Amino acid sequence: MDLNIALLAGDGIGPEVIDQAVKVCDAVAKKYDHNIKWTPALTGAAAIEAVGEPYPDETHEVCVNADAVLFGAIGHPRFDNDPSAKVRPEQGLLKMRQKLGLFANVRPTFTFPSLVDKSPLKRDRIEGTDLIILRELTGGVYFGERGRKDDGNTAFDTMTYQRFEIQRLAKKGFEMAMKRSKKLCCVDKANVLEASRLWRETVQAMEKDYPEVTVTYEFVDAVAMRLIQWPKGYDVIITANLFGDILTDEASVISGSMGLMPSSSVGSTVSLYEPIHGSYPQATGKDIANPLATILSAAMMFEDMNLTQEAENIRSVVNKALAEGIVTEDLAEGGKAYKTSEVGDWLAKNI
Ligand code: IPM
Ligand code: MG
Repeated sequence: MDLNIALLAGDGIGPEVIDQAVKVCDAVAKKYDHNIKWTPALTGAAAIEAVGEPYPDETHEVCVNADAVLFGAIGHPRFDNDPSAKVRPEQGLLKMRQKLGLFANVRPTFTFPSLVDKSPLKRDRIEGTDLIILRELTGGVYFGERGRKDDGNTAFDTMTYQRFEIQRLAKKGFEMAMKRSKKLCCVDKANVLEASRLWRETVQAMEKDYPEVTVTYEFVDAVAMRLIQWPKGYDVIITANLFGDILTDEASVISGSMGLMPSSSVGSTVSLYEPIHGSYPQATGKDIANPLATILSAAMMFEDMNLTQEAENIRSVVNKALAEGIVTEDLAEGGKAYKTSEVGDWLAKNI
C-alpha cells in the first residue's frame, strides 16, 4: 500500500520523538511491503520563527492532501512566560484541529503488564484498566468568545456548545461503546453549567437509537476522583474539550507515564495522531524523552487504516521493550536509562 503521511514534528522534544516513530513505521513498511512517503511541514514555535505563523497555510495544504498526519508536540517556554505574546505556538494546534475538522479526540487509557507496579496507584485498582476518553476537540471554552472588559481587570472565556457538535461526538461515543462493553458515560457539570445541560439533553435523546448501550451521567468533579479510585468502572467516556483535557492528563497516571499515552483526532476528513504529552522543553535536544507515546500513536494510525497486523506488531514490540527494560529515564527507576534514539533503534530492529 502507498501511504502519504504529513509529518509535523513541532517543538521541544517533538522532532526527537517523531524521528523514532518514523524509524519504527519505516521498519513496519518494509516488513509488510508498504511504501510510506513522509512530507514534513512546520508547526508551532518553529513555524512562528520561520514564517511568523504557528499553522501556516502551506502546512494545512500538506495535511489535507495526506492520508494521515503524525504530529509531535507544540509549545515553547519563550511564549509561556510572556502573556502579552500576540502569536502563541498553541494557537497553531487549535487552528489545526479546527481547520482539519478534528472534532473527536480519542485518548485510550490502558495498563502495560510490566509497568503496573510503577504506577503510584495500587495494582488491584488499575490492573486491567481499558477505557477510552473521547474528548470534544473543536468547541467549548477553547473556542468560545473571550476577551477583556474595558476596565482591563476583567477577563472572560465562554463555554459554548451547539447541539450538532454534541451529537456528532456522542455518535462516535455510542458507536465505540457498541464495539466494546456497551457502556457509555457522559461527563459534564450539568448541576451548574447550561452548556452541560444541553449535553445531557442531547445525549439522552440519542439513547433510544442505541438500546443496547447503558448510558450513565456523572459530574466531572466526581469523575476526577473515581477515575483514579476505580478506573475499571469506566469504558467509553464522552466529554467536553476542557474536561477531557484535564481528565486525560489525570488518566495517564494509571498507565505509569505521560510518555506512554497515544491519541488520535478524527473528524470528517484526514485524521491526526499525536502523543498526549507536551513539548517538554527541559528535555529538548537531550535525547532522553520517551518516544513510546508517539510510536503508539503511529500504531493507532495503522489500525485506523485497517492495517491491524502492523498496529499489533508495533504494540507487541513496545510491550517487549517495556518488559526487557529498554526504556528512557522516566521509566528506568534505578535501572539503565536508554536514550530516546536507542529505544527507537531497538524497536525498529525488533519489528
Ligand atoms: C493537549 C494539550 C493542548 C490542549 C495544549 C498544548 C493546547 O494540553 O493536547 O491536551 O490543551 O488541548
Ligand atoms: Mg492536555
